[in-house]
Amino acid sequence: MGDKPKVWVSRPLFPDIIARLEPVFDVHAEPETRAFSIDDLVGRLHGMSAAVTGLADRIDDRVLSRAPHLKFVANVSVGYNNFDLDAMRAHGVAASNTPDVLTDTTADYAWALMMAAARRVGAAERWLRAGYWHGTRFDQWMGMDLHGSTLGILGMGRIGQAIARRASGFDMKVIYHNRSRLDAGLEHAVNAHYVDKATLLRQADHLMLVLPLTAESRHAIGAAELAMMKPSATLVNIARGGIVDDSALAAALADGRLAAAGLDVFEGEPAVHPALMALDNVVLSPHIASASGRTRRAMAALAVDNVLAFFGHGPHAGKPPSRVV
Ligand code: DGY
Repeated sequence: MGDKPKVWVSRPLFPDIIARLEPVFDVHAEPETRAFSIDDLVGRLHGMSAAVTGLADRIDDRVLSRAPHLKFVANVSVGYNNFDLDAMRAHGVAASNTPDVLTDTTADYAWALMMAAARRVGAAERWLRAGYWHGTRFDQWMGMDLHGSTLGILGMGRIGQAIARRASGFDMKVIYHNRSRLDAGLEHAVNAHYVDKATLLRQADHLMLVLPLTAESRHAIGAAELAMMKPSATLVNIARGGIVDDSALAAALADGRLAAAGLDVFEGEPAVHPALMALDNVVLSPHIASASGRTRRAMAALAVDNVLAFFGHGPHAGKPPSRVV
């Protein structure tokens, strides 16, 4: 028992999935979800060979330089902006994420937010629940159509492509901008047209953000970009907080310079900008785009398989399928 490598699991996942680590590892799983400071992480990772982490667990030099046994960190998410990849390389710590298993679930949710924002579902429901529905005014609760409109997608990786594919059922024109253009075959398959960022901002009736958070993409949508958008447009962020300047967005929504927004991610989450909280033309959700039961289990299973594989066990023994470092 004593010579099994140790693994730390930073939050409650699914007990039956975590149990798959037990034949190989001495498992230290947190019983509750909480935010860990750097010192907490250093304490928790003491003596650990592996960790299963989430986006809130910052893994950088401050942690790695005090976790000499650590060899592998598996994030239970496709994004890994909580990892300092250079520091991980320098300390010889490998890492993985959970791509593919959440693509379609996340794309479905992007559509849910876009529809809810464009058709004012949240505000109308709050109004109804508050007891204001005494008769139906013909010109009330009018929103924006999706069918026949132009969907703009900023960031065209796997999730962006899955969002684009769904647009054909709504007869939407799809335009996109991405660091690199898709090859012609893929563009044809997802029926999306490449444009520069300015054209994307100007032409989109509904703009979907699906790009990773990096130093370059921070505030990719700020006051200047919002000013280029149609006042009738909706903006949906299912990517990362920090890609949008939330304060500039709240100002544009309040002033009628943008019709509506759907946000699943926020700068400084779980805190939400108070100006956004006060607005009725924004749909807010607590970072749940990948949260279907089936997909959350698949993400946990992939993270566990990645840990097992790195240590030579499980279905992908020796070669974690989603290694990022
Ligand atoms: C991801 O996977 O990166 C999501 O944002 C968290 O589920």
